[in-house]
Amino acid sequence: MKIPMLDLRREYEYMQADIDAAIKRCLEHQRWILGPEVEELEKEFGKYLSVQYCIGTSSGTDALVLALRALAIQRKGQEYFDRGDKIITTPFTFTATGDAILRAGATPVFVDIDPETFNIDPEQIKQALELTQGVVGILPVHLYGQACEMNQILSLAKQYNCFVVEDVAQACGAAWEGQKLGTIGDAGTFSFFPSKNLGGFGDGGMIVTNSQELAALTRELLKHGGKDKYNVEHIGYNARLDTLQAAVLLAKLEYLDEFNNKRKKIAQLYNQYLKNCRSIQLPQFNKGDVVHQYTIRILTNQRDQIQEYLKNKGVDTTIYYLICLNRMKVFFGRCEMTGKLYEANKMQKEVLSLPIEPLMAAEEIQYVCTQIKSFFN
Ligand SMILES: Cc1ncc(COP(=O)(O)O)c(C=O)c1O
Repeated sequence: MKIPMLDLRREYEYMQADIDAAIKRCLEHQRWILGPEVEELEKEFGKYLSVQYCIGTSSGTDALVLALRALAIQRKGQEYFDRGDKIITTPFTFTATGDAILRAGATPVFVDIDPETFNIDPEQIKQALELTQGVVGILPVHLYGQACEMNQILSLAKQYNCFVVEDVAQACGAAWEGQKLGTIGDAGTFSFFPSKNLGGFGDGGMIVTNSQELAALTRELLKHGGKDKYNVEHIGYNARLDTLQAAVLLAKLEYLDEFNNKRKKIAQLYNQYLKNCRSIQLPQFNKGDVVHQYTIRILTNQRDQIQEYLKNKGVDTTIYYLICLNRMKVFFGRCEMTGKLYEANKMQKEVLSLPIEPLMAAEEIQYVCTQIKSFFN
């Protein structure tokens, strides 16, 4: 059997009539830049999340950069943060999270994660806030679909007058205590990269916020930096969401909850088949979480061997993430850390993400688990 990490063709075939019709509408109206589908998606996504403002962007990375830049303008009255402005985040995330902080002019402060949830540890945030001068914001990442501990994060942010930008790239549709992720902090950023729970046919992203000022600023930044692109006031970007992507995403948004439920069932099946495997730590998903990656921890120092073994059995797996951000060259001399980031460093040697795709068959999941068990036997 061959089991890829993800087979997007199956998903397309499942929704083909809706997606094809959406693309056909674009071919008919030919309004490729900020066409009607962009506004419609922003409206529908806003309804889905119960948030006031949604601003489509060209990627999840751009969504992060724009949100942070807008906060620099709003809070400091300047285009970029200064190097002395610190933003606390996790080192165990995709490059873009930390890179966006650099691109907004600030300094990332990496703090350790909770080994159970893989997410930033609020106790570590607290310590960093006590030890570090100049912290202006906190950037939690809801990794693999699991919500960060938002109550503690919000109360620390309030105590230290910090903003909170949620990176929701991996948790589209998830909620914390009934409130959709992305709508809890000052702003939330989403990625519509094809492999995401809501993925387009190329790059795309979204900023969501309840602040009218941040919404207006990010909207200007994505269109070259002004209300009128021929007379701009900020250092802007060309970071608009394409009409065509918006059309595809609008069609796929209808399926988001159904597909998130399917992903959750797959994770439950994995947990069931692997529950007696003592060499593995299984992920635990809370009620509001979604499943983006199904990531296990190999507790026997054999992660790379098991990955190779599975590959030979036709099962693709991925390591999210092989290198913590603080160990990447781009952050050398440009970041701070509190403590040794022990858990994050351990995690990069132990995690393994298994294939997960909403339309995976039970036999496929069973096959993957049988191979994992046979490796340990
Ligand atoms: C946690 C996280 N943040 C940010 C991004 C960046 O999103 P994009 O690839 O759409 O730029 C991604 C995904 O790729 C991600 O997983």
